[in-house]
Amino acid sequence: MAEIFDASRNWDNALGAALATLKLAKPVVVPTETVYGLAADATNPEAITSIYEVKGRPRFNPLICHMADMAMAKHYAAFSPLAEKLAKAFWPGPLTLVLPLTPGGGIHELATAGLSTVGVRVPRGLAGDLIRAFGKPLAAPSANTSGKISPTTAQHVAEDLGDKVEVILDAGACGVGLESTIIKVDGDRLILLRPGGVAVEEIEAAAGQTVERGASHAAAIEAPGMLASHYAPGAAMRLGAKQVRDGEALINFGAQPIEDANIALANFDLSPRGDLHEAAANLFSMMKRADASGAATIAVAPIPMAGLGEAINDRLTRAAAPKT
Ligand code: TXA
Ligand code: MG
Repeated sequence: MAEIFDASRNWDNALGAALATLKLAKPVVVPTETVYGLAADATNPEAITSIYEVKGRPRFNPLICHMADMAMAKHYAAFSPLAEKLAKAFWPGPLTLVLPLTPGGGIHELATAGLSTVGVRVPRGLAGDLIRAFGKPLAAPSANTSGKISPTTAQHVAEDLGDKVEVILDAGACGVGLESTIIKVDGDRLILLRPGGVAVEEIEAAAGQTVERGASHAAAIEAPGMLASHYAPGAAMRLGAKQVRDGEALINFGAQPIEDANIALANFDLSPRGDLHEAAANLFSMMKRADASGAATIAVAPIPMAGLGEAINDRLTRAAAPKT
């Protein structure tokens, strides 16, 4: 059974347990500002393999490699001036950059699925402190069984993976609540591989250029973790709902008037005041709670596409896709 360490209150204890486990090439669960990650030594094939075993992921996908800071990132990945501009604007924070690997840098090819590029990001807070103490990058996907909703609390992780991991660091609910935005820096081009915790508009403003969207075909190959049925709850999902039907739970946004809301088996609002940041932070836990209500279908009110709404709608659309 996993031991849960209160990392906010007793950091030294939590850090000691995490470092000892990582040094044995085993994964530990680490809170980041986006979601909880299942983290292991990105330079060690045994450690990376154990991530796939714990998640029950059917095959190797490239993993995001988490760095303590820019200096560490530069040892493993090649930064163009454009990449450096984005890193300076958003790190530490929920932006992943896909960059050329530094030859011989040391990231194991199991972490990159043999690609010549690597996804790198510098997370905020405790995760960064852990990586600095460990001295090497940590490969980390979200800490959930493959295909399930990403965890935003230590309790979510314990319920799902509690018998498969030894150490869970608990730092409360994740502030952002959605995975990082993934941008491939390809020469002069910026290509969106996954919308996430930083709005694309903000990235365009910092870069002074357009981010190419809808690279869906290339993205499907390059970001194989982006399968349509990812993030699936047990219940069916009905998006853009303006009315509740029999047997449904409701997830509202911005206190919109929803017809027959009173018959919903469970009633949530991602952000009654219509704030997309608050909605992002609540999305996964409200999806889990709506699912746990036993409703056959979760009706979700329309969510605007601006800013973080793009990533929220992306996750909802995947959750609504037919399960494979
Ligand atoms: O917020 C996050 O990004 C979280 C936390 C734990 O940091 N991590 C996360 O990792 O969401 P994961 O494994 O669920 O998603 C990684 C995504 C996948 O879609 C993968 O295909 C893509 O990143 N990716 C990683 N390296 C890549 C590369 N070199 N080229 C293209 N896509 C890459
Ligand atoms: Mg994931």
